[in-house]
Amino acid sequence: MKTPPSVSVRPERLVIEAPAAYPTAAAGWIASTIEAVVAARGRCTVALAGGSTPRPVYRTLATQHAHDVPWAAVEVFFGDERCVPPDHPESNFAMAEAALLRHAPIPRSQVHRLEGEHPSPEAAAQAYEAILPAQLDLLLLGMGPDGHTASLFPHAPALDEVRRRVVPAESPVPPRCRLTITPPVIREARQIAVLVTGAAKAPAVQRALEGPWDPHRLPIQLAIRGVWLLDQDAAAMLGQGGA
Ligand code: 6PG
Repeated sequence: MKTPPSVSVRPERLVIEAPAAYPTAAAGWIASTIEAVVAARGRCTVALAGGSTPRPVYRTLATQHAHDVPWAAVEVFFGDERCVPPDHPESNFAMAEAALLRHAPIPRSQVHRLEGEHPSPEAAAQAYEAILPAQLDLLLLGMGPDGHTASLFPHAPALDEVRRRVVPAESPVPPRCRLTITPPVIREARQIAVLVTGAAKAPAVQRALEGPWDPHRLPIQLAIRGVWLLDQDAAAMLGQGGA
């Protein structure tokens, strides 16, 4: 993908200067990555990030990349989910469904959601682990201001998980009950894209990318090898030392 003039590229970081250009630039990177994977491997397994940052990116994927992305070869998974029904306003599936999945020509049989509504989060986690690919082609992750990613929060027990790939988790902010991928899934992913925007996250971005290695304190560091799709505000503290 040719880098548009508004974007400065540092190794593994795509810094989009104009915040208004972020959805187009991030969607363009995701679309070209999916196209390359499908061209090489015949299909692409993608795990979507939740939260609010991805919403305009997913909308842009649906509106500007409906025809260049080979959606029929894409299998969609999720990195985490809240323990709510799939039509609940806090559901990550509901957000992705409204922004992208309802609009892109992805066969419904190729959309695999985490069953947040399941009365047993443990059973839902085990069922999802059984269908989650051993190695995702593309894992999209967001990051909270505290450096959490998916529903892996600082100092969470799930950060020590080495065997299970999907577990129930506790969030410090509501909805407290979550389902999340674990570090092995992040470690095994072929490609990772970290989507972060806004000045509120600049300190955590700087600590994660330039501070000491401590994924228990900054779980997003598990994705350090990924491509960080940042807007200028989120990247503002990089290269300034300590934060
Ligand atoms: C979730 C996400 C979570 C999210 C970050 C950032 O379920 O909330 O998986 O990891 O990516 O909290 O959220 P925002 O994009 O809303 O800032």
